[in-house]
Amino acid sequence: MDIEREYKRSLERILTGLDLSGMSKREQAVFIDRLNEQFPRLFALLVDIYGQRYDFFYYLQQLVQTLANGFTKRSNVLKQKDNARLAAPHWYQDENMLGMACYVDLFAGDLKGLQQRIPYLVETGITYLHLMPLYDSPKGDSDGGYAVSDYRKVNDTLGSNKDLEELSKALAEAGISLVLDFVFNHTSDEHPWALAAKAGEQKYQEFYYMFDDKHVPDEYEKHLREIFPQVRRGNFSWDSDSSKWVWTTFNNFQWDLNYTNPAVFNAITDEMLYLANLGCEALRLDALAFIWKEMGTNCENQAKAHSLIQAFNSCLQIAAPAVVFKSEAIVHPDEVLKYIDKQECQLSYNPLLMALIWNTLATRDTHLLTESMQKSFEISPDCAWVNYVRCHDDIGWTFDDAVAGQQGVNGYDHRRFLNQFYTGRFEGSFATGVAFGENPSNGDCRVCGSLASLAGLEQGIEQNNATLIEHAVARILMVHSIILSIGGIPLIYSGDELALLNDYRYEQDDSKKHDERWVQRIPVTDADIQASKKKDTPQNRVATGLQTLIGLRKQYSVFGQASTRIINPHQNAVFAYQRTAKDGTSLLAICNFSEHKQRVSSITLGLGNGDVWQDLLSPVRVSPAPQELELAPYQVMWLLNSQPV
Ligand code: GLC
Ligand code: GLC
Repeated sequence: MDIEREYKRSLERILTGLDLSGMSKREQAVFIDRLNEQFPRLFALLVDIYGQRYDFFYYLQQLVQTLANGFTKRSNVLKQKDNARLAAPHWYQDENMLGMACYVDLFAGDLKGLQQRIPYLVETGITYLHLMPLYDSPKGDSDGGYAVSDYRKVNDTLGSNKDLEELSKALAEAGISLVLDFVFNHTSDEHPWALAAKAGEQKYQEFYYMFDDKHVPDEYEKHLREIFPQVRRGNFSWDSDSSKWVWTTFNNFQWDLNYTNPAVFNAITDEMLYLANLGCEALRLDALAFIWKEMGTNCENQAKAHSLIQAFNSCLQIAAPAVVFKSEAIVHPDEVLKYIDKQECQLSYNPLLMALIWNTLATRDTHLLTESMQKSFEISPDCAWVNYVRCHDDIGWTFDDAVAGQQGVNGYDHRRFLNQFYTGRFEGSFATGVAFGENPSNGDCRVCGSLASLAGLEQGIEQNNATLIEHAVARILMVHSIILSIGGIPLIYSGDELALLNDYRYEQDDSKKHDERWVQRIPVTDADIQASKKKDTPQNRVATGLQTLIGLRKQYSVFGQASTRIINPHQNAVFAYQRTAKDGTSLLAICNFSEHKQRVSSITLGLGNGDVWQDLLSPVRVSPAPQELELAPYQVMWLLNSQPV
């Protein structure tokens, strides 16, 4: 096929029939301009995915009309935002950026309550707020809202659509970018599409993967992982209404959408534009690794999953270009990187850094962290990592076995050790965590727990041991210092800034007790916030220590757009990296991952050149550099070098 000729011809035909009547002449010009610019790419991607279908053109035409409708419905304020973001696309790399993720109900009761907490967010320095799924979802267990029954309706326990609109405006006024979930791998089994499928409507049965018997599922199953083996074995669930097996990667009430059907792509694009038009500035692409299934593979990270995401990205560039994508690929590090591109996901969680921070706290050995970051930290200068230490999910040990192997570490055994270390089955561990998703066939599991509990604070408080508490506080501040300085958007998980401990009440709740991730999904009460202000408590030391780090981050541009070089410090317990901004300003970050003093050579760190280095976290000026720097237990240094002497 001569793709250039075909896209031109298709575009001409589509434009002839396109209804742009809702737009002013100026808006029409903007829309057509963007469409012209994006169409070659969008067309090529969709041909790759759907080009073999006889009805391809029908769906293409429908899609462009959907984009036009989405653009028409977009408010003028958001259209201005589109222009501003197109003119300055790298806003997310700014040193001012600071993210927080929270559940609306746990953080503030409901959407109105959240609006009242905006001053707290502003005081904390938050500029990016990820609200966990707040859409209509099944009562009882809804996987924390990740089973969506209606993308366009706010869950009534949280408030109304109007509350969300008002909140969105209030956040924008406070300089906070709203981030929403785009749960597009699956819907709940109560979504109208699923209900129609259950009732036997073929059109909607084709929205999902439904099978009359277990024959085909069993063929797929040979190569699939099990995500929640504690609640259900395998990846398929029996639906007694339709008498069919349904593909359900996660829980049985989360039905995987069938993207081999272009009607699904178009319908989900429509939902995506609805979310974009609520005023969010980033969409978190939930479980994106799973969206394309290919017989004989593990059905994760397939080439066509990338094509689909790029196609969604292109749709946004046409209809709502202020919105960027954040990848939630919690997979092998090499696969994580493949989602990160200006034309795919501009932002990505950094699960490797997260997992290796916890690994290093356990081992007090930075080799795996250093080597892995040297291999995998660098991404396109148009993109940014979202660096985090904890989130609402379990910790999976997603490091690269090949890198571990080079250091004589056996990946399988090491994961077992880490699971034991963080779930209280390893003598001498400081951590209080809970095992999650234990697989009865292979003993595999992942780890849950709040940051403070995993870092040792729960144990320290229980034993009333000042040293343990001191170490825990220092660990919490150190790991935050890394996400605040290594490059990208730091994302704090709400409650961690107050050092909240594990909440075991989920064990008494029938809709939660089978899902240990609730142990770290903790309400943040006014009393917690007040308690963190009480001088000299561990909570206060965490909160104020964090405020100092955040304040510094926002003060110096080297924390924003600057390169990152991971340094090999030749010192087991030390992790070090250097940021360099375009103006030559340099920041050397050094962390001691152990409860013992460490010495590290200045030459190895690159300190030998006679410049003046000022530690932003202590009164120390390094000039000329001593032969060795000494770090106290869990000490962090942020050495800034601005003016050469
Ligand atoms: C993502 C979410 C997780 C959820 C899953 C299914 O991994 O972070 O909480 O269970 O997707 O939607
Ligand atoms: C999947 C997701 C991961 C999440 C898990 C749910 O593996 O990729 O993000 O942690 O499901 O617990």
